[in-house]
Amino acid sequence: MLEELKATGQAALEQVRAAASEQELEELRVRYLGRKGLLTQMLRATGSLPPDQRPAFGQSANQIKKELDQALAEAQERLRAQAARAAFRPGVDATLPGVQPRRGHLHPITQTERLILAVFTRMGFAVVESPEVELDWYCFEALNMPPDHPARDMQDTFYVQEGVVLRTHTSPVQVRTMESTPPPLRIVCPGKAFRRDSDATHTPMFHQVEGLMVGPDVSFAHLKGVLISFVHQVFSPQVPVRFRPSFFPFTEPSAEVDIGCVVCGGDGCRVCSHTGWLEILGSGMVDPNVFINVGYDPDQVTGFAFGMGIERIAMLKWGIDDLRMFYDNDLRFLRQF
Ligand code: FA5
Ligand code: MG
Repeated sequence: MLEELKATGQAALEQVRAAASEQELEELRVRYLGRKGLLTQMLRATGSLPPDQRPAFGQSANQIKKELDQALAEAQERLRAQAARAAFRPGVDATLPGVQPRRGHLHPITQTERLILAVFTRMGFAVVESPEVELDWYCFEALNMPPDHPARDMQDTFYVQEGVVLRTHTSPVQVRTMESTPPPLRIVCPGKAFRRDSDATHTPMFHQVEGLMVGPDVSFAHLKGVLISFVHQVFSPQVPVRFRPSFFPFTEPSAEVDIGCVVCGGDGCRVCSHTGWLEILGSGMVDPNVFINVGYDPDQVTGFAFGMGIERIAMLKWGIDDLRMFYDNDLRFLRQF
């Protein structure tokens, strides 16, 4: 009986020390020390031994139980530490601050477009858009440029098919809007335009914002007031503005607007071709022929219109000397905005 006790105790110790998981450990505890455990049953049997054998048996039994309890505690500790080590991924310090994901941002042309639109919407202009693939009528003819009109040569056009073009400017929006809306109106129209152009200041696809204001008494003074205010809000109130006589078939009189060179401050540099001035937009009073083409009565209303290149404004605002950079998709460039 004593030998059996010692053998069982020894086996229990060995199994506990070899246990590979906390679950296995718990099973061993139940198997040997549980209510019906092997050692528990043996201890209970002490009473049925002959009296002279009881003390030695009891002593051994207590000794074995003590050792087993200790072995269980040690094994528990060992397995916990092992599990913690397994959960730890080397190289990850969970106490360090996390890595910030890099956030994207709007393309500089989109930012500039929104800046321009914000200035005009504050002045009460509504934002309108229209198609990029346009009928010849809206892009040219209704704008006082009949077929073979020499002014068509000012814009080298991509043709989609006979009578259908990629719009060369955003001015067709004027025609479409007036055709569908009675006066008075005040609109700005952002969008893409396309021309067979490619150099440092021209790309085949570029963006314009068109503006149009029509009403009973709209004058050239309104045109000047709105555009000067625009320049002062987008650049600075100190920037000089000048209106230089020009020609567009759809406006009469016409003026191009120049601002004092933002690079050299008007002293003359490479960017302004040593003139001290930079052109930012074309403008003028809507030609009566355009009003007739859209069904407005030129004796009842007058209006002004303007069109600016968004890339041009962005170049001036950030001092960029090559427009093509906006479309190279070089992140080193784009991340600077
Ligand atoms: C026009 O396109 C007229 N529709 C503007 C206008 C509207 C005048 C209403 C009067 C009334 P222009 O061809 O000058 O005008 O172009 C206007 C601006 O578009 C230019 O000043 C320039 O900033 C920009 N632009 C023209 N071609 C390109 C191009 N290939 N790449 C980038 N920007 C361009
Ligand atoms: Mg021009």
